[in-house]
Amino acid sequence: MKTESIRDILEQRKFLFFGGKGGVGKTTMAATAATWLSDHGYKTLIVATDPTVSLSAIYEQDISATEITKIGTERNLCGLNINPKKAMGMFQTRLEGTLSGISSVFGSELLSTPCTEEIAAFDQFVSFFEDTEHDKVVFDTAPTGHTLRELSMPFDWSGYISNQIKNRRELSEVLGFVYDEKMVADLNVEKERYDKSVKGLSDKRISAFNLVLLPEKLPIEETARAVEDLGNWGIEVPSLIINEVIPKEVLKGNWFLERRSATQDKYLAEIDRRFPNLIKKQVPLFETDIYGLDRIRKVGEVLYGK
Ligand SMILES: Nc1ncnc2c1ncn2[C@@H]1O[C@H](COP(=O)(O)OP(=O)(O)OP(=O)(O)O)[C@@H](O)[C@H]1O
Ligand SMILES: [Mg+2]
Repeated sequence: MKTESIRDILEQRKFLFFGGKGGVGKTTMAATAATWLSDHGYKTLIVATDPTVSLSAIYEQDISATEITKIGTERNLCGLNINPKKAMGMFQTRLEGTLSGISSVFGSELLSTPCTEEIAAFDQFVSFFEDTEHDKVVFDTAPTGHTLRELSMPFDWSGYISNQIKNRRELSEVLGFVYDEKMVADLNVEKERYDKSVKGLSDKRISAFNLVLLPEKLPIEETARAVEDLGNWGIEVPSLIINEVIPKEVLKGNWFLERRSATQDKYLAEIDRRFPNLIKKQVPLFETDIYGLDRIRKVGEVLYGK
């Protein structure tokens, strides 16, 4: 049986997430995947769910928070930089609209919880699972902890909506209220949206949550934790991208580089041992940082081939 390669993952699935610890190369790997896919004829949208300007910086152009922006003169590549503050506005509007039943009773409380930004960001996120315009949607996510909180939202939120429906029904029966069928129907529509995204996220045929890490102790621990947490929600991590591996040919007897490289070798062996079933692919430490299409394409060749 032919084993699946990281390139297969990219070509076969529609929703591609790149996650990992802060600073390990998530944006770089998301941009690399998106650019490679668009170069190979897939109509691709890259979405940053991290409230930074990194996506704009790596593509050297302003990528909008409100409108899908065409990237350069690329035929098949567009980007969107979700701004949680903006998403929050939309979320609030929806709460006041569709979810008016909830917001009148619970709205102010809900809107002041510390997780509201994550709910709002995810609320936008969820809508991409309804996307039919693109062949591929690549997500550049925020550092693990934040993203895991965000991802848990639809799970909590869907349960929350279910409870609301149940409570309303019971309350109206006990107190003889007029049971608002329209509102319950609206809540059900909302719940279905969330359930659909939960299902999509854990469907191996359409989604892949790839993790990026460095061959170092802290990123390895964070990766192990993320694989476990995601697994608990039924989200599989198919592949690990091990970034910034020092190429052997640059060592040339330099004690500092040799020491760093030996440290990396130790952790590379540990990664093999701890994640035996995941596809693992290394990316070398380049002599410069990575931005602009030319450099992004070099990384793409290393990871996914010509
Ligand atoms: N293989 C590499 N060789 C050289 N530089 C790299 C490599 N991978 C990433 N970089 C550089 O490392 C820096 C961090 O990368 P990046 O912004 O992609 O990380 P991130 O995980 O998205 O960070 P954050 O957690 O802040 O979102 C960038 O300046 C990038 O150009
Ligand atoms: Mg980033």
